[in-house]
Amino acid sequence: MDRMLSTQEVANRLAVDAKTVRRYLRQGKLSGSRIGRDYRIPESAVASLLRRTSPTAAGTAVPSCVVTAVVNQKGGVGKTTSTFNTAVGLHKLGRRVLMVDLDPQASLSVSAGIPVAHLKASVYQALLDEAVDPLPIIRETLSGVDILPATIDLAAAEVELVNVTLRELVLRDLLAKLRPRYDHIVIDCPPSLGLLTINALAAADQVLIPLECEYLATRGLTLLMQTLDKVRSRLNRDLRIAGILPTMFDGRTTHAKEILGELRTAFPGQVFEEPIKLSVRVKEAPAAGLSIFDYDPNHDVARAYARLAQEVDRG
Ligand SMILES: Nc1ncnc2c1ncn2[C@@H]1O[C@H](COP(=O)(O)OP(=O)(O)OP(=O)(O)O)[C@@H](O)[C@H]1O
Ligand SMILES: [Mg+2]
Repeated sequence: MDRMLSTQEVANRLAVDAKTVRRYLRQGKLSGSRIGRDYRIPESAVASLLRRTSPTAAGTAVPSCVVTAVVNQKGGVGKTTSTFNTAVGLHKLGRRVLMVDLDPQASLSVSAGIPVAHLKASVYQALLDEAVDPLPIIRETLSGVDILPATIDLAAAEVELVNVTLRELVLRDLLAKLRPRYDHIVIDCPPSLGLLTINALAAADQVLIPLECEYLATRGLTLLMQTLDKVRSRLNRDLRIAGILPTMFDGRTTHAKEILGELRTAFPGQVFEEPIKLSVRVKEAPAAGLSIFDYDPNHDVARAYARLAQEVDRG
């Protein structure tokens, strides 16, 4: 049977905003029936629009690639772990996936088994000079996903980019060259709201926010949400929140359960259903250069990241 979708769900699928979906309905590009203040749109109508529409024929682009920025200015909350495992989860769904390491610590590149000390070029060169072709810099990892790796050079980018015209948009321009080659691009951000993170937010379609289930971790969320609002009003109108991902969840403690409950109350509908559990296996996997899927495929955390990848894939 045909599933019925809300305007927002259709907007997510098409990677456009809800206003555009309403316009499509008015123009007859999409069929749907009005129920109260929203519409019910059959999934088949969305599929047929997607088949009919190519980025050039559409007039309005329906991008086939979804760029997800994994962001939290707090350190050690599971950004890199979530970037890597979500990317591999998407690859296991048959998608073409690129990870972008935007953190000068290069933890993602190292976790994915890239010998960063021997790299001649990294995302840094491609960001700083638009004449640099990013393709030769991209590496394939053992897990099957591609990576645009980082090296410590990237630390200088925050300073060097300051003098570049439209310095917030250099990553967006770089990814525009790569979008046609991938279904998903997942960006691992550094633990700050500096220029690199702003570049990621300006380039992204959606934001995934990993959050450790402890009191202090939730305090920074307000600042992050304010930053997202600013980015939306100045740089990237259509930036949406894919969701808040509770990480390192220790279900044995009441504290973690309370934090999760409070989070769901404060951000209704925005917290992913299944938290990522705290597990030493997650810590061990990157040392072997592997994702949790390849290190311990039957682990709860592998299952949770697989589910997350499905949600991210739906957009
Ligand atoms: N579910 C988990 N269970 C146990 N350990 C975890 C889990 N997720 C991540 N870790 C560990 O916690 C540490 C921090 O994780 P990670 O590097 O992903 O965070 P981060 O937000 O990227 O950190 P940074 O802000 O420094 O970039 C790492 O040692 C990682 O292996
Ligand atoms: Mg990290």
